[in-house]
Amino acid sequence: MTVPANNEANNTKMSTPDTSKTTNMSDSTNISDANNISGANAASSAPDTSDTSVNALLERIENRTYNVGILGLGYVGLPLMWTFHEKNMPVIGFDVDQEKVDAIHEGRSYIKHLGTEMMQKLAASDLCTATSDFSRIPEADALLLCVPTPLTEHREPDMSYVENTARTVGRYLRKGQLVILESTTYPGTTEEVIIPILEKESGLSAEKDFYVAYSPEREDPGNPDFNTARIPKVVGGHGAEALRLSIALYETAIVQTVPVSDTRTAEAVKLSENIFRSVNIALVNELKIVFQAMGIDVHEVIDAAATKPFGYMKFTPGPGLGGHCIPIDPFYLTWKAREYDQNTKFIELAGEINTKMPRYVLRRTFEALNAFGKAINGSRILVLGLAYKPDVDDDRESPSYKLMDQFTKMGAKVSYYDPHVPVIRPTREHAHWAGTPSVTWDRETISGFDAVVISTNHSDIDYDALAEWAPCIVDTRNAMNGRPGVKKGQVWKA
Ligand SMILES: NC(=O)c1ccc[n+]([C@@H]2O[C@H](COP(=O)([O-])OP(=O)(O)OC[C@H]3O[C@@H](n4cnc5c(N)ncnc54)[C@H](O)[C@@H]3O)[C@@H](O)[C@H]2O)c1
Repeated sequence: MTVPANNEANNTKMSTPDTSKTTNMSDSTNISDANNISGANAASSAPDTSDTSVNALLERIENRTYNVGILGLGYVGLPLMWTFHEKNMPVIGFDVDQEKVDAIHEGRSYIKHLGTEMMQKLAASDLCTATSDFSRIPEADALLLCVPTPLTEHREPDMSYVENTARTVGRYLRKGQLVILESTTYPGTTEEVIIPILEKESGLSAEKDFYVAYSPEREDPGNPDFNTARIPKVVGGHGAEALRLSIALYETAIVQTVPVSDTRTAEAVKLSENIFRSVNIALVNELKIVFQAMGIDVHEVIDAAATKPFGYMKFTPGPGLGGHCIPIDPFYLTWKAREYDQNTKFIELAGEINTKMPRYVLRRTFEALNAFGKAINGSRILVLGLAYKPDVDDDRESPSYKLMDQFTKMGAKVSYYDPHVPVIRPTREHAHWAGTPSVTWDRETISGFDAVVISTNHSDIDYDALAEWAPCIVDTRNAMNGRPGVKKGQVWKA
């Protein structure tokens, strides 16, 4: 990966330690860049990092005189930045996306549920900065890597972001730094991918010159009950010192830490959590189809079952999996398991069921329209909710796109409404929808559709108005349940 050019505008904030004595970089240009930046910005309160011993770093962490660097300022990295900032710790955020860096400096929100107030506070803060200038990496005592881990088009782990980030960090790594991977990934990534790259690029040795750990992010975007600071953090260190340092670091900002034996165990914990969700969602999706054939409402069943005070955990069915985690992460384990001659039957079965859900919604829409004497071909269909879950603007892997593609393929005229996604952004997977605007929310527009398919149940949608306006509603989220205005034969659960 090429390291972006220095961005002078972004080097103006945050007190920086004098790292000149400890910087160890392979590229002499980079050394002078980093030293210039340190010199220019060194504040009188900046900690002295010339002692690169583990105890010196531990002391800085415990005395709260450390600096933290976060690489990747997306759905995970940005709230993490805020978490440390809220504890009055200096944070430097790094991203290759200059748009995000500029947005942080200008106080503009680019993740809707995080709001503009937070962004404006970050922009106004002297403790916090964002940059695409990676030569500032030596300024941080701890570097937290929050970059994407998607699948390739052959549904195998795409490690390119993790590898590129490790290469960049390695190029600027100095003695005495702590590097923690937070991206979701397969067991073995930290030891087999991150550490070898860091050592090769820096010429330094893990455990001796620098410290490495893995701590998975458990962010649940849009969940008002849990923010990053309130979610216990599992931590696995590469060696006892890395673990000690990481635990100390997170304890300064996060409610609880959960140490585990090593990085591989911590990596396995995160995958287990997401596999648990994927398998349980597949189970309720299957039950939905079975119960529907029997004339039983799965939502009523689930709500009643959830009153059992032990041994049951509520999962709700939907139109299929979405988001950057649940549809993807389980296959990281499937891929790695093959190296050990192991099969992951549960994961693959869950994937199969969840992947088929949009086809079930298609079938139900077909039945619904048929009851009105209409076919999918030629009908006007509105997909309600484009984001993959309520009240966020994240449309990655959203099943709504699968629905829109299916309906279009069958000859329907398809539109969408989502107050959180006014226009579809360009993405590799859904390039053909890029630039499509959401329809407007008014009687005339909504009543003009032959069917409205509720794919995501955003809370700021007026479902009572929908009951009044739309002739036919296919409801994959039970959003119309109990609405007094619903007419007989109008709502089709799917
Ligand atoms: N989104 C979630 O709810 C969630 C929850 C838990 C865990 N995770 C995991 O966290 C990781 C990050 O996910 P996300 O949703 O924040 O992704 P994201 O796409 O929202 O953000 C990632 C950011 O990393 C930046 N980036 C890419 N390459 C970089 C590089 N070399 N150096 C610096 N920045 C770089 C991108 O520009 C982007 O801003 C993934 O592994 C994901 O599986 C995500």
